[in-house]
Amino acid sequence: MSTKWQADAPSNIALIKYMGKKDAALNIPTNASLSLTLPHLRSFVELEVNEEPYDLWQPLTYLDYAPLKLSEPQQQRFIEHLQLIKEHLSFNGNFIVRSGNNFPSAAGLASSASSFAALTQCACLAISDLTDKEPLNIYQKAQLSQRGSGSSCRSFMYPWTLWTPENIQEVHFPITDLSHLSVLIDTSEKKISSTQAQQMVKTSPHFKERPKRAEQRLAQLLHVLNDQNWQEAYQIVKEEFLDMHQLFHTSKKPFQYINEQSVEIIDLIETYWTESKDGPLITMDAGPNVHLIFRSDQNSIKHKLQKELNSRGYDVI
Ligand code: PMV
Repeated sequence: MSTKWQADAPSNIALIKYMGKKDAALNIPTNASLSLTLPHLRSFVELEVNEEPYDLWQPLTYLDYAPLKLSEPQQQRFIEHLQLIKEHLSFNGNFIVRSGNNFPSAAGLASSASSFAALTQCACLAISDLTDKEPLNIYQKAQLSQRGSGSSCRSFMYPWTLWTPENIQEVHFPITDLSHLSVLIDTSEKKISSTQAQQMVKTSPHFKERPKRAEQRLAQLLHVLNDQNWQEAYQIVKEEFLDMHQLFHTSKKPFQYINEQSVEIIDLIETYWTESKDGPLITMDAGPNVHLIFRSDQNSIKHKLQKELNSRGYDVI
C-alpha cells in the first residue's frame, strides 16, 4: 500500500470576476464568473501518511524554483482545507502535506486557486486509496475545493469555466488555443489579500449594483466570444476589471493595487489596439500584475509586445 500521493492543478484567470460572497462560510459567489484555465501555471501537492496525530505543512523541494514560503496563517488555511476534506470523506488519519508552484512564488500571481485545487485532488486521491471509497467526480471535487478557496473550483475544468452561485461548468468557444502572459509588476506580498478584498468591497456604494453589472457583462462576453468578436471582448473584459478595481478604490477604507506601472501597461495595450485594430485581452486580479490573453494567430503580436515589455524592464511569464 502506497503512503505517498501526488497531484497537480492549473491556475485560472477570470475575465468576469468573482467579487463578493453571498455566503462567506461556503464561498457562494454574489455573481457568476467566467475564467480561462492556465495549464502552464501549476501547483503541485504531495501527501504522505503522518504517523503523528496531526497534519503538517512543508514546502515541496523538488520543483525548479526556490521552495514556497507560506506564512503561519496561510499554512493554517491550507491545513484547515485538508481537514475539511477529511471530515467530508469521514477519514481520520493524518498527513504531511507538501506544496509548491512551477512559477516563482514571489511572482505575486494568484496561487490559491491552483494550490487549493491541487490539494483537493491529492487528498481525494489519497483518501479514496486508503479507504477503498468510490472516488468523487470532477464536479464534486470542484465543489469541495470551492469551500477552501472560491476561485479554485474553476481550476477543475478546461478550457473555460463558468461558475455561478448554483453551478460549476466547463465552457467552450469557437476561438481555441488561447495563450496567456503575466506581466510581473510587483512581486512582494500583497498588503490586502483577495480574501480581505472580498469582504471590503461590500462597503463600496457601487457594490449594490455590482451583481447586475457583472451579469450583464457576462451575457455580453459569452455572446461576443461565441461570435468571435475579439475587439468587443477586449472592451468588456477591460471594463470588468476596472469595475472591480473601482470597488476597491471606493470601499469605506479605500485600497489600491493599480499602480503607475500597471497604468503604463494598460495604456501601452490601448495604444496598440488603436494603432493596429487588434491586440490582446487585458485583465488584472486583486494585485498590480497585468494579464494578457492572445489568440493563437496573434503570435507575432505577442512577441512584439513581449519584446517591448522586456525593453521597459518588465519580467513576463
Ligand atoms: O478565491 P479568492 O477569494 O482569492 O478570490 C479571487 C478573486 C479574484 O481573483 C480577484 C477574481 C477572480 O474571479 O478570480
